[in-house]
Amino acid sequence: MKIGFLGGTFDPPHRGHTAAAALAARRLGLDLLLFIPTARPPHKELPPDTAGTEHRLEMTRLAARGIAEASALVSDLEIRRGGISYTADTAAELMAAYPGAELWLICGGDMFKSLPQWRRSGWLAENLNFAVFSRGGEDAGELERLAGDYLRRFGIRARYIDAEPVPISSTELRARLKRGEGGAYLDKAVYAYILEHRLYGALPEPDALWELVRPWIGEGRLAHVAGCRETAARLAARWGADVREAESAAILHDLTKKLGASEQLLLCAKYDITIENFDPAFESLLHAETGAALAYRLFGISEAEREAIRWHTTGRAGMSLLEKIIYLADTIEPARSFDGVGELRKLAFEDLDGAMIRSLKGCLENIRRRGGKPHRLSEEALAFLLEERNAGAGRSNVSD
Ligand SMILES: [Fe+2]
Ligand SMILES: [Fe+2]
Repeated sequence: MKIGFLGGTFDPPHRGHTAAAALAARRLGLDLLLFIPTARPPHKELPPDTAGTEHRLEMTRLAARGIAEASALVSDLEIRRGGISYTADTAAELMAAYPGAELWLICGGDMFKSLPQWRRSGWLAENLNFAVFSRGGEDAGELERLAGDYLRRFGIRARYIDAEPVPISSTELRARLKRGEGGAYLDKAVYAYILEHRLYGALPEPDALWELVRPWIGEGRLAHVAGCRETAARLAARWGADVREAESAAILHDLTKKLGASEQLLLCAKYDITIENFDPAFESLLHAETGAALAYRLFGISEAEREAIRWHTTGRAGMSLLEKIIYLADTIEPARSFDGVGELRKLAFEDLDGAMIRSLKGCLENIRRRGGKPHRLSEEALAFLLEERNAGAGRSNVSD
């Protein structure tokens, strides 16, 4: 039985780790591939924003699930052992657990170069095989010469694996996640986990978020949500709001719309979410409440984004800039067609509050014409905007 194992902090595990492990599994013909998150690495301190041990284990399990080349598992043996994680102790445990197995340590070229300094390096050289990757443009020839040198000196069996390195480290990735970037370097399930658990101060990246959210939206509504995202981004750029926040809120605004009311409420029960403002007389508006709550719980959005999703159908008195942007983007995105939508689109880029007033008025008139009862919050939203506008006009008259 051939077993490859790969240690690391996996903080977080990224495509560089999984691509290397999968390639090693294929080249070596491994039967089993083990990811072994370290408790504490011997050569460095864990960073201050490190994810907790349980999170690192769970993320590594999710990343390993995406590997098809060998049966890939995550072992918690170093975590259970605690303290500094020495490869020699891990190898000894693996030899005891899998007697007679051919063990391959999968490691980077930088680690391989430092092998003579490892604890019990002679014993490791006798008992392990080494699959060595370059990292970030290291000289393949140098590693091959080193492997030959180790073979002569220690009888080490090493294979150099030439691979296109994924140009990212976990340190760089954590910094990118904080800036709302880097989703492409992560397995989707790992990215979703990071957002849900708000690890590393990660802010959602619109492109990666879109990929996660697509299955929630349903085919029939994808064009609407994509249009809403694009319109929200343009409005945010025009009015000086955070474009990334506007895009994220727009992508998530109809998160639960394809679900029936009972499914939405079941999800809220599952995630322990209390719906604060639900009015049973307006059941079709439930998706704004549940969508806001679930988006906040699952996708790492800010409170401002949550509120923008919450009020996207009714509006409310005293709306924030982001709330107005999402409300209007939902109303005027390119797939919408109703009388006056063209003028409203234009107005939204010239006079944001004017567009809000026109949209709310039109909406309330429509409902009344059909004999319906407008939502109290929409009436309050309109009254607030009109009052503000009148007060502004009054002030400018006084200064005249
Ligand atoms: Fe909606
Ligand atoms: Fe919508």
